[in-house]
Amino acid sequence: MTAADLDAVLVLEALGFSDPWPREAFQEGLDDPAQHYLVVEQGGAVVGCMGTIRLADHRVHALTITIHPDWRRRGLGRRLLAAALQQARDWGARSFTLEVRVGNTAARNFYRTFDAVTLKRLRRYYRDGEDALLLSLPL
Ligand SMILES: CC(C)(COP(=O)(O)OP(=O)(O)OC[C@H]1O[C@@H](n2cnc3c(N)ncnc32)[C@H](O)[C@@H]1OP(=O)(O)O)[C@@H](O)C(=O)NCCC(=O)NCCS
Repeated sequence: MTAADLDAVLVLEALGFSDPWPREAFQEGLDDPAQHYLVVEQGGAVVGCMGTIRLADHRVHALTITIHPDWRRRGLGRRLLAAALQQARDWGARSFTLEVRVGNTAARNFYRTFDAVTLKRLRRYYRDGEDALLLSLPL
């Protein structure tokens, strides 16, 4: 992802999340050497994005992943997440984590295909009061 992708990424985020990240969050992320952002394109258009951050304890944490609704269930999310996992391995990460809403059945099924395990339930983690699950994906 580059700054030139931001407009398209913000559209994706708004379609994918009830509480999408603001532009500034992505801009700061792109400037932060510990964060890494990927986009997936189809016919020159950005149809998916993913962000990760390297944390102190050799952990990589996924910050966001979304695929345009018209492009879901075509293996693009799998490609993005697989690329992020490979990059975490290349960095020497020992663990890969992320949070998911308990009610996000699609995403929970998606992570299950990567053999995700639940580490803990985070009560009222989101602004609207929904719980999160902290998942770990094997590297
Ligand atoms: C979660 C998300 C990124 C998955 O992206 P995707 O490109 O549709 O996923 P893929 O096509 O790579 O799916 C890979 C596998 O995951 C599982 N899966 C994905 N979406 C699923 C769904 N809606 N229902 C059940 N299983 C699903 C399936 O096993 C699928 O393989 P299959 O299609 O061969 O059955 C996408 O649904 C999305 O953008 N959701 C909105 C944003 C979001 O919730 N992000 C996650 C935040 S934690």
